[in-house]
Amino acid sequence: ATMIPIAAERAQPVREVATSLDQCRRCELWKSATQAVPGIGPAQARIMLVGEQPGDQEDLAGLPFVGPAGALLEQAMQEAGMARDSIYLTNAVKHFKWEPRGKRRLHKTPAQREILACHGWLEEEIERVQPQVIVALGSTALKSILQDGAASMTPLIGTPVQHAGRSVIAAYHPAYVLRAPDESSRRQAYAVIVAGLRQALRLEQ
Ligand code: URA
Repeated sequence: ATMIPIAAERAQPVREVATSLDQCRRCELWKSATQAVPGIGPAQARIMLVGEQPGDQEDLAGLPFVGPAGALLEQAMQEAGMARDSIYLTNAVKHFKWEPRGKRRLHKTPAQREILACHGWLEEEIERVQPQVIVALGSTALKSILQDGAASMTPLIGTPVQHAGRSVIAAYHPAYVLRAPDESSRRQAYAVIVAGLRQALRLEQ
């Protein structure tokens, strides 16, 4: 039998997924994005964090959560005692949706049809990684994970639900913390994220 180097055998499917993801035309967002941004993390991570979509910096880097929201998420993970390199990080929508605002590219919330168009890619990651716990960061992630366009964050905060055999935890998106109008709501929203991450660590045991 032909010997296949283990490294190549393991690396290949990941690259195939990334390539076909970048060529995805299931919605229109690819047209204005630099590239599709796939998830990243250990092949068998027990916890998956799902954000909304890549932001300006993620779009340029091709990696999730490398911008300001990522820095805040990193801080929350540290506070929760969660090692970033043990977690699979991804987004519900893989292309950056934006509108020009002066010289900046301003994030736009994905439409339900775009969340739906991208759902198969998230599903592929969940099937491949098989996490025990999924943390939805914000309502776009929650809608995609629960396959329910009407899913709302508020009733699920602090109350994990079972969906398709996995625990799903709802927490605010880190950008929501960054946008909070005052220090007190900022602290409150941040605390919800840290609590959600701690809950994920308890549930994976
Ligand atoms: N916001 C997200 O939801 N995901 C990222 O990757 C970056 C910012």
